[in-house]
Amino acid sequence: MRNPSSLQLTRRTRRNRHTQAIRDLVQETRLHPSQFVAPVFVQEGTKKKDPILHFPDIFRLSVDMLLKEAESLLAHGVKTINIFCFTPNEKKDPLGLEGYRRGNLLQEVIRALKLEFPELCVMADIALDPFTDHGHDGVIDESGYVLNDPTVYALSEMGLRAAEAGCDILSPSDMMDGRVGFLRKSLDDAGFIHVGILSYAAKYATSLYGPFRHALDSAPRIGDKKNYQMNPANVREALLECALDEEEGADMLLIKPALTNLDIIAKVRASTQLPIGAYQISGEWSLLHAGASQGWLDFDRALMETLLCIKRAGADFIFTYGAKRAAQLLLK
Ligand code: PBG
Repeated sequence: MRNPSSLQLTRRTRRNRHTQAIRDLVQETRLHPSQFVAPVFVQEGTKKKDPILHFPDIFRLSVDMLLKEAESLLAHGVKTINIFCFTPNEKKDPLGLEGYRRGNLLQEVIRALKLEFPELCVMADIALDPFTDHGHDGVIDESGYVLNDPTVYALSEMGLRAAEAGCDILSPSDMMDGRVGFLRKSLDDAGFIHVGILSYAAKYATSLYGPFRHALDSAPRIGDKKNYQMNPANVREALLECALDEEEGADMLLIKPALTNLDIIAKVRASTQLPIGAYQISGEWSLLHAGASQGWLDFDRALMETLLCIKRAGADFIFTYGAKRAAQLLLK
């Protein structure tokens, strides 16, 4: 195919974009299903698959249904899931005791998953907000302030129970100070040297957590989470959080939300040798769905583009509610 050349250019960058094969050849970033983590919501009971307000296509599953979902994820090449537990109101209390009660739902789910699918990497969210009646990630004082050190003790109990149940990786999402170090020590003292810690190291107080809080009915009933989650205005603070969690023994670091923090992902990538992940959170997911439901954007293309750009920014792996859909699209 000949085209007139009147500009006498030595370099035409469009040549490397001329055909699909060439574009594929020079593509710098690629997604792979094994680098997706599927967050899942589990609830008590059997044969339950309940829709969630403002959270299209995402369901609260009973354990039997979750096992089916895990099988399907594995069949699509998604090998890691992260468990969040829904707790009915009558089991919530100010201390979040249900979170570390022996034999609770979290431990039951981990056991069931590891028994049926030993090859699956099971991550457990470690935080108290699904279990506290006030919705905060820890134990509060009379003013509603989340007490750091008592919360860390409770988290370590929760983490130990999850480890006993066979959890591969603990993912503390609470943003308390010193919890990674204390969790590491508790795990090591109990002999769980192979249980890893994925720290939600840079977690911002964002307006985009809404659908998730519907999933667990966990919106804070007093105040907000701004004195433990980070201010979206800050970059250095994220680097400090990540450095501290690394020093305390985190095996991997997580940044969330993803799309509003691509600069943070890139900067953390440059400042650590640890694997880093990014969490495409519930609000990011619902934004894509909302746009698609209006016919304003193509859901699949927007999903794949956002995931690709999160990876390009420097994330090794991505927590996404679109894990299975993206894996399907990659297999096409
Ligand atoms: C809380 C927690 C939250 C998410 C994960 N763990 C919400 C919050 O801090 O209130 C949000 C994830 C999402 O929005 O998808 N420990």
